[in-house]
Amino acid sequence: MLTAEEIIQKLNLQEHPEGGYFKETYRSTGEISQDNLEDGYTGIRNYSTAIYFLLTSDNFSAFHRVRQDEFWHFHTGSPLELHMISEAGKCSSVIIGNDLEKDETPQFVVPGGHWFAAAVVDKDSYSLVSCTVSPGFDFDDFELAQRDQLIKHHPEHKEMIERFTRI
Ligand code: GUN
Repeated sequence: MLTAEEIIQKLNLQEHPEGGYFKETYRSTGEISQDNLEDGYTGIRNYSTAIYFLLTSDNFSAFHRVRQDEFWHFHTGSPLELHMISEAGKCSSVIIGNDLEKDETPQFVVPGGHWFAAAVVDKDSYSLVSCTVSPGFDFDDFELAQRDQLIKHHPEHKEMIERFTRI
């Protein structure tokens, strides 16, 4: 099995602001005009984009949210635990992985607007997944949570928020 460093090199992954490493692998050439997008989008968007995302067990993906629904597809390594807080404040989690006998989920969609964070389940390991959104990704549609702000909105999830925020 390849090490995380070897995969990062082979797939030419770069550090992601939420934690972990990523590379955009697809951006459709087709575009959607702002008129045809829901309120909140700040300009034209591509139809769709996809990334590889690799997270190591000594790190976490910090709480963030995107406007679009985001598909997660598991590829290899340890399963990954995704933690979500809905706009209504409901907390949920899911294990993204390919061991169906353990009820892991190979494919999962995080609803647009949910805050979400992720961690690798196994020690000394990594998870390699893909994340796909439509309309295509733009950092204008991405927000990294600020710990104090998120706790103010969802004080009942303080512990979880403290565990998965850096700023
Ligand atoms: N491209 C850059 N960052 C991201 C991300 O967090 N999610 C998706 N789907 N695409 C990205």
